[in-house]
Amino acid sequence: MSGLRVRPLCESDAEVIASAFAGIGWDKLASRYRRYVREQERGERTGLAAFVRGEFAGYLTVSWRPAYRPFRLEGVPEIQDLNVLPRFRKRGVATRLMDDAEALIAARSSVAGVGVGLTADYGAAQRMYAKRGYVPDGNGLVASLEQVRYGQRLVADDDLVLYLTKPL
Ligand SMILES: CC(C)(COP(=O)(O)OP(=O)(O)OC[C@H]1O[C@@H](n2cnc3c(N)ncnc32)[C@H](O)[C@@H]1OP(=O)(O)O)[C@@H](O)C(=O)NCCC(=O)NCCS
Repeated sequence: MSGLRVRPLCESDAEVIASAFAGIGWDKLASRYRRYVREQERGERTGLAAFVRGEFAGYLTVSWRPAYRPFRLEGVPEIQDLNVLPRFRKRGVATRLMDDAEALIAARSSVAGVGVGLTADYGAAQRMYAKRGYVPDGNGLVASLEQVRYGQRLVADDDLVLYLTKPL
């Protein structure tokens, strides 16, 4: 897409991103993005922000030391919190963010990881990850970072995730 630019997240993005999401009724506080920038300064995370002709369109982050134990133990960096504002969707913004994130990860690891929710809210992401070559990591369903046991009763919310990996 012409006019699309991706660059590292910076402090001044926090208010811009929070107000863009507030505009669509999503409760994403500026404090989250300020935390990401602090983690970036400590080398724990890298944030990437996408702008279309100067307007904020979406972002993702790469966690270099994920909380999900199998990734942490294997040293698999995890793509986290990918979001594109609805009016910029289906124009290749997430594709570009993912391309850039995978390039960053490839410099340090031969595998990239991501966790995806299982409800239809994440349907576009599920399809995108599959098309990009991400496959389940073999640990089955995970709820609040813990492996789900057979027969366990669960609430299908954002904490119910399937983790995927892709060789780079
Ligand atoms: C998932 C998301 C980031 C995709 O952003 P996007 O900029 O629209 O994605 P792109 O235009 O780069 O499309 C990439 C691929 O996503 C899939 N996709 C995008 N929109 C889709 C839709 N409405 N339905 C089904 N698949 C879709 C397609 O596979 C597409 O590739 P294709 O065009 O070659 O078929 C966006 O829909 C979003 O922010 N969703 C809500 C948050 C979310 O689910 N985040 C992921 C958390 S794991």
